[in-house]
Amino acid sequence: ADDHYYDFFVRESNFTKLCNTKSMLVVNDSFPGPEIRVHRGDIVYVNVHNQGTYGFTIHWHGVKQPRNPWSDGPEFITQCPIQPGTNFTYKVILSDEIGTLWWHAHSDWTRGSVQGAFIIEPAQNESYPFPKPDADQTIILQSWYNRDFLEIITTALSTGQSPPNADAYAFSGNLGDTYGCPNDTIFRLQVDYQKMYLLRIINAAMNEPKFFSITNHSLTVVAQDASYVKRFTSDYILISPGQTMDVLLFANQNMGQYYMAMRPFSDSAATPSNFITTGILQYTNSVGVPNNNTITLPLMNDTSAAYNFTAKIKNINIKQNPPLDVPRRIDRRIYITIATNAVPCTESTCVGPRKFLASLNNVSFDFPTTDILQAYYNRIDGVFTRDFPQNPPVFFDFTGNLTGVNTNTTEGTRAVVLNYGEAVEIVLQATQLGAGGNHPIHLHGFSFYWVGSGSGNFNNVTDPRSYNLVDPPLINTVQVRGRGWAAIRFFARNPGVWFMHCHFERHSSWGMDTVFIVKNGTTPKTSILPPPASGMPRCPGT
Ligand code: C2O
Ligand code: CU
Repeated sequence: ADDHYYDFFVRESNFTKLCNTKSMLVVNDSFPGPEIRVHRGDIVYVNVHNQGTYGFTIHWHGVKQPRNPWSDGPEFITQCPIQPGTNFTYKVILSDEIGTLWWHAHSDWTRGSVQGAFIIEPAQNESYPFPKPDADQTIILQSWYNRDFLEIITTALSTGQSPPNADAYAFSGNLGDTYGCPNDTIFRLQVDYQKMYLLRIINAAMNEPKFFSITNHSLTVVAQDASYVKRFTSDYILISPGQTMDVLLFANQNMGQYYMAMRPFSDSAATPSNFITTGILQYTNSVGVPNNNTITLPLMNDTSAAYNFTAKIKNINIKQNPPLDVPRRIDRRIYITIATNAVPCTESTCVGPRKFLASLNNVSFDFPTTDILQAYYNRIDGVFTRDFPQNPPVFFDFTGNLTGVNTNTTEGTRAVVLNYGEAVEIVLQATQLGAGGNHPIHLHGFSFYWVGSGSGNFNNVTDPRSYNLVDPPLINTVQVRGRGWAAIRFFARNPGVWFMHCHFERHSSWGMDTVFIVKNGTTPKTSILPPPASGMPRCPGT
């Protein structure tokens, strides 16, 4: 295994899109930021220099960071922000991750502009469990707003209103030719006839799952969330914010130019903007222009297209993979309902009588001002409590026609405490409280096995009988379908403090988050949380 060193200089730069210029915080003056490219099992040191005007942190999304929550990144969970004029070096420890991940700011909405790919190639002596691609190409699906990301969420939270939908979406910084501004650039993927390409697709959008397709070409999915899956071929993919997918593209069609396209998927009452965003697949030496009548994508509300696709994803149990480690028995089931809410607003800055919140088991997460990891490690009282409810406050028909119903959601910083090594199952139940809809739930510090999902209310007698304990996908972000549920399992073998949240930024900002604390074990030594490295950013007021 090798060590790698990167410097991230983070400052404001000007960008012009939709015929509008704005300044935004980015890494090394680029959007998306620099790609990290390493091999399986390497260690990466990233020195982050804050040359901007406000504090932020960076998270290495999907990297498990064994025993190293100190470098995980979520603001006020595992560290305090890196202040302007200071720097902090993250130590990113890879273990069995293989394929595509990403990194992003983990403070308010700053991840909208501070983001990039994190590519993990096979180790020196390893090969791919699929035909070796001739080349690979990263494609980052993004949201574009004319307003500043920090300003959008600060205003929304202080007035109690909902943050707006994106003004456009982009392929790695390119908005394409559908938004009407002639100066916008289009993403081009140049391919040679008869060659095989590995597309590394990252959904870095703020709030929307995406359908993605390339005219006349099928896509062969080979990995999700940096773990190989059984190969399958589809005309389109569905990918949620926080998810990454590796797909093979065989350039075997008539030489020419073809559209690639994406559009949002939504099964919620609160619909995103139904934009189609374009890019171009271009065969080397081809002539002509692509024909946009040929774009084929499922409709925005096509739930069967969405869930037929996700049902095809299965783990591939091969030698290159870590041994399957699926808990067959569990020590604890935590049952978590997911809701959006509106509650009376007492703050003087509120525009209306109510403000939006979101919650897990009716607890709307409140970010503290000292990070939870430090408070836990140094036994600082008053930062968080250990009483996150492990069942919903009441059981009822969560998926009935409940739109608009308010429950008694309360705000709090309440953590779940797990014993080292426990086999944990989490059942995530989407509800129709508020706008309803699907939720990509992301857990830090682990990849987990997605063992089951369904529509309607989870039944704790019959549904576990249908669990897939044979080849469940090993992922870090699970899509919980609207009016449905998903079950995940993992062994709590990573001591520390780990964030779990919806990867829709709107929901996470409203409080659809919680924290898992995994206690130390007694033996072996690898079950003990080490002390922090020196140079952790200081918290305000300490
Ligand atoms: Cu990609 Cu907690 O985040
Ligand atoms: Cu959500």
